[in-house]
Amino acid sequence: MPTKAAIVGVTGYAGGELARLVLRHPEARLVAVVARSHQGEPLRAVQPHLHSAPDSLVIGLEVGDAEVVFTALPAGEAAKQAAGWLRDGRTVIDIGSDFRLRDPMLYERWYGYAHPAPDLLREAVYGLTELTRDRVRTARLIANPGCYPTAALLALAPALKAGLVTEDIVVDAKSGVTGAGHSVEDAYLFGTIDESVRPYGVPKHRHTPEIAQEAAALLGKTPRLTFTPHLIPMNRGLIASCYAPLRPGKSARDVAGAYAREYAEEPFVRVLDTYPATKATLGSNWCLVHALVDEENARLVAFAALDNLVKGAAGSALQNFNARFGYPETMGLEALPLWP
Ligand SMILES: NC(=O)c1ccc[n+]([C@@H]2O[C@H](COP(=O)([O-])OP(=O)(O)OC[C@H]3O[C@@H](n4cnc5c(N)ncnc54)[C@H](OP(=O)(O)O)[C@@H]3O)[C@@H](O)[C@H]2O)c1
Repeated sequence: MPTKAAIVGVTGYAGGELARLVLRHPEARLVAVVARSHQGEPLRAVQPHLHSAPDSLVIGLEVGDAEVVFTALPAGEAAKQAAGWLRDGRTVIDIGSDFRLRDPMLYERWYGYAHPAPDLLREAVYGLTELTRDRVRTARLIANPGCYPTAALLALAPALKAGLVTEDIVVDAKSGVTGAGHSVEDAYLFGTIDESVRPYGVPKHRHTPEIAQEAAALLGKTPRLTFTPHLIPMNRGLIASCYAPLRPGKSARDVAGAYAREYAEEPFVRVLDTYPATKATLGSNWCLVHALVDEENARLVAFAALDNLVKGAAGSALQNFNARFGYPETMGLEALPLWP
C-alpha cells in the first residue's frame, strides 16, 4: 500500500517541485494538494508542468487522509498547524524553516516572531539525511534543511567531523532566483537580476544560525561564522564556497581521506576532484562536493553545488520521506540532471 501524502503550499516553487517528484514515486500517493489561492482548480492547471497529475487532484484547504504532510510555506505558517496534524497521528516534513532551530529565542532574533509551537522544537529532527538519517527514521516531525545550509554543511561536514579545521568559518554562496520563491518584488524581476550579481542579507541572513547550529554539532563548539549569500541571474542552482583554517599538522591528504570516507556510501553526494558546477545538478537530487587545501595559507576551501529546489528543498524532503517510511533512499529520486 503506497503512503498517502499531502503537500501544503503546492502552488509555490518548492511545493510544485515536490509534487513533480511525489507524482512519480512508486510508493507515495498524492491525496491532497493545499494552498489558499486557486481553490477548486486542478493541480495540473495551476502547475503547468505537472502533466500526469489526475484531473481529480484539485487545490483545496484540507490534508484529507494523508499519513504524511509536507509543508512548503513561508516562515511561521507550518508551525501554526503542525501540532494538529501530529495529534492526528500524521508525520510532518517541513520544507520551510519552522522547526530547524532548536532554541525558540533564535526565531525571535533571526525571524522576528515568537515561535508558535516552541515545544515541538525539542522533538523535531533536523533532516539533513546524510548526517541524521538514524534519527529521521523514527521522527514524527522532520525539519528539512535550508538550501544554503544543505550546501554549506555538506561541503564542510567531513572536515568538521574529522577535526581538520578550526571554528573560524566563512561561507560565500550564490543562488538562482527561485531560491526566493515566486515573488514579484522588484528585486527579483528579470530586468533587475539579469546580467547582475549582488550579495544580500549580510550578516543577518536567516540561514546563518542554522548553519552555525549544525556546524557546532559536528565541531563540538560554536563556530565564528560569516555567511554571505548572493543572488545570481539563473533560475535554479546554488553553490557554496566555504573556507576554514586548517588545524596545525593537518594536510591535504587528511582532507582527501576524510571526504572520501564520509561520502563513500552516499547515494546523492559525489566527491569530485575538480570544481563542481550547478548545471551538473540541474533538476536532480545530487550534491557535488570538492575540497582542497590552500597550502600557502593553511586553509581548507570546500565547495558544494546543488539544485536549490531539489537537493535544497523538495528532493531532500523526499529523501527524508524515504528514510522515514522505510523505502530505499533513492526511490523516486533516481533521475539524473539535465545537460546541457
Ligand atoms: N525556493 C527554494 O529554493 C527553497 C529551498 C528550501 C526551502 N524553501 C522554503 O520552502 C518554503 C516555500 O518556499 P517557496 O520558494 O516554494 O515559496 P513560494 O514559491 O513563495 O510558495 C509559498 C507557498 O506558500 C503559500 N503561502 C504564501 N503565504 C502564505 C500564508 N501566509 N499562509 C499560508 N500559505 C501561504 C503559497 O500559496 P498561496 O498563496 O496560494 O496560499 C505558496 O503555495 C519557504 O519556507 C522557503 O524558505 C525554499
